[in-house]
Amino acid sequence: MSLVIGEARPLRRVDVAVSSGTYPVLVGEDAAGSLHDVLSGLNGLERVAIVTDAHVPQSWPELAAGESREAGAEPLLLSIGGGEASKSTEAVSELLEAMAAGGLHRRDAVIAVGGGVVGDVAGFAAATFMRGIPLIQMPTTLLAMVDSSIGGKTGLNLRAGKNLVGAFHQPVAVLADTRALTTLPQREINCGLAEIVKYGFIAAPRILELLEISEPEGDVLDELIVTSIRCKAKTVEADEREQASRAHLNFGHTLGHALETVTGHSMSHGEAIAVGMVFALLLGRELGLVDLVDRARRLLRRLDLPVEIQGVDRDAVLNVMQKDKKFSRGLRFVVLRELGAPEVVSEVPDAAITESLEGVGIN
Ligand SMILES: NC(=O)c1ccc[n+]([C@@H]2O[C@H](COP(=O)([O-])OP(=O)(O)OC[C@H]3O[C@@H](n4cnc5c(N)ncnc54)[C@H](O)[C@@H]3O)[C@@H](O)[C@H]2O)c1
Repeated sequence: MSLVIGEARPLRRVDVAVSSGTYPVLVGEDAAGSLHDVLSGLNGLERVAIVTDAHVPQSWPELAAGESREAGAEPLLLSIGGGEASKSTEAVSELLEAMAAGGLHRRDAVIAVGGGVVGDVAGFAAATFMRGIPLIQMPTTLLAMVDSSIGGKTGLNLRAGKNLVGAFHQPVAVLADTRALTTLPQREINCGLAEIVKYGFIAAPRILELLEISEPEGDVLDELIVTSIRCKAKTVEADEREQASRAHLNFGHTLGHALETVTGHSMSHGEAIAVGMVFALLLGRELGLVDLVDRARRLLRRLDLPVEIQGVDRDAVLNVMQKDKKFSRGLRFVVLRELGAPEVVSEVPDAAITESLEGVGIN
């Protein structure tokens, strides 16, 4: 779907319909140029907090500041350190104090300019400042464009585990300006590709076919991004608060999160879920479901993503997964019954878990 917003900018648009209303996700070169239109639509707006991190190229928060001024709102530029360590209650507390000191009121807005870390922290601040103020997501990583900026989940880490604090707070718009990807390191691009592969397995096999025959760049990459966003939007619309089917988005994440933790985040989110997806497919095969293990390994290798990990202790991984269990009432995995047909399984035999962990190098 092609749509022209404001000036003559052909952008792709996906609408996300949730309980609080419908919001647009705009994708393409110069999607950020629609920011002043979005801000102009907010009643009573006087100030915006533009939140970014130290490694996002400064041209992006500056662009957001220029668009804000154009819309008549005074920008307050705020930066968090970046990285998982920034997803903390301390970082949010500093942001909230700075927003209050900067004179923001309940009709003002937060603009998250960065990757999933910035989106999660700024999103949580927007969800809680004066009981919730408008949030605009301007994702600048591939992962944030296809996943974290959409759907309204925000998350902070505690010492006890990842994303244990959070709130649902839907954005009023998501502006995914694909020019941001030109400065993104290849490793981060690959991490986003891992999430895109996930959508291919759980909902859109077309994604796998595209990635198997073409390079993820140019028009192909745009197509992959928009298809992924549609998958995410549909999933969120069907189950906004993750009561049921939204959990399918966690395909590859049960082991993935544990690997991030036991490697002290030296393994990135995308790399960890790549291994996690192979594990989930091995587990499904053990349970007599569809066998897509070889297809996944071939594709992930093609994308320079890991399909196994060496030197990680099985007990350490199981411990972290068990610890998660404390919070989620039962160790559960998302497996595939068929390609594009995920389901959540619990009470999986220990032997199947052990065997599948061995299949990704964890002994
Ligand atoms: N809320 C959700 O629904 C959801 C979903 C998936 C993941 N997440 C969270 O997202 C986080 C991962 O997000 P991520 O992969 O975007 O990581 P990230 O936010 O840490 O970004 C990766 C790195 O790229 C830098 N960067 C950002 N944009 C750039 C650009 N255009 N050019 C160059 N460098 C740039 C960042 O500063 C950072 O150093 C995790 O904390 C994960 O838990 C949240």
